[in-house]
Amino acid sequence: MDTRRDFIRKSAILGAALCIPVTLARESRAAYPDLKTHDPKKALVLWYSQTGQTRRYAKLIGCLLKGKGLAVDVCNMQEFDKNLLPVYDLIIAGTPVFYYDIPSNVSDWLETIPSIAGTPVAAFVSFGGPEGNQHNASMHLLKLLTAKGGVPVGRDAFRNIASYPTPTWNTTNQKASQHLPDAATFDQVRRFTADSLDRVTRNETIPLSYEFAFREVLGALPLSWLNKKAISKHTVNAEKCIGCLTCVRKCPTKAINPLKQSVNREKCLACFGCLNNCPADAVVMEYRSERLYGFPEYLKRNNIIIMEPSEFSTCRM
Ligand SMILES: Cc1cc2nc3c(=O)[nH]c(=O)nc-3n(C[C@H](O)[C@H](O)[C@H](O)COP(=O)(O)O)c2cc1C
Ligand code: SF4
Ligand code: SF4
Repeated sequence: MDTRRDFIRKSAILGAALCIPVTLARESRAAYPDLKTHDPKKALVLWYSQTGQTRRYAKLIGCLLKGKGLAVDVCNMQEFDKNLLPVYDLIIAGTPVFYYDIPSNVSDWLETIPSIAGTPVAAFVSFGGPEGNQHNASMHLLKLLTAKGGVPVGRDAFRNIASYPTPTWNTTNQKASQHLPDAATFDQVRRFTADSLDRVTRNETIPLSYEFAFREVLGALPLSWLNKKAISKHTVNAEKCIGCLTCVRKCPTKAINPLKQSVNREKCLACFGCLNNCPADAVVMEYRSERLYGFPEYLKRNNIIIMEPSEFSTCRM
């Protein structure tokens, strides 16, 4: 019998074959409010990140905007007071692609932000491999920001090493993305930032476009729920746990309790944030009876050092 992972892999291959990207919707400049300013002074770069890839791009964008003379805040979405959003002249938000879309905790958060009418907004996603519905995921993020009055000035998707845990961490995507991000990825981030800022100055918007592709249909499946069915023994090893509570901070739904070695399976989104961030290898998860281990351990075992952009030698965010 096919496992869910086999099913998704085969579907993705089929999807690639059937994929005919079609732009479903476009909107013109006239569809949005006037920009609050063409000369932004205060920018916010908001990120959600489980293994640091999206955070890295957010910090680089922050450094680049700072280099252009803007006052910049770069913040973890989970810790940011959303009532402060209207004070910014430019908002750029980034998230990983999880299960062919943006994480549900990110969309939940953005659905309850106050009006940001007239604020230029840009969105980016980080992702692990091709055929992962990145275009539509980034457009979903942008759409949520424009639904609150944001004016769309940029979107992009930056590929990096995939942080989706498998027992061996050697999927095709994993191997193909091991060297990413590289210098070209960071150049793409620089272009995205410069272009977004230029559009604000020139009073230009980008269209919200959607690609219809077979892979998008996969996104409609309850993928994290299906994944949870394939994951077993999700708990905490009390002997290894050092009580640092990193897993609690990283869990978007507060589903894990390391003190009781328990995980609320109803609340859990199968995001692997607990596994991918535990410094003591104390989070236990099995996939098809094979033990999973987290992203830092995978990097260590394979001597992988993720490249940092040159800006970080002079800019701290
Ligand atoms: C639970 C989970 C689901 C994922 N699903 C996708 C996906 O559908 N498409 C994709 O391109 N990458 C997928 N990835 C890979 C992540 O998007 C990628 O590793 C991302 O850059 C992680 O960002 P972060 O380090 O900021 O958490 C997934 C990773 C995880 C952990
Ligand atoms: S992150 Fe790991 S070590 Fe820290 S509290 Fe959670 S399970 Fe324990
Ligand atoms: S308990 Fe579930 S939702 Fe929470 S971090 Fe772990 S995998 Fe993600």
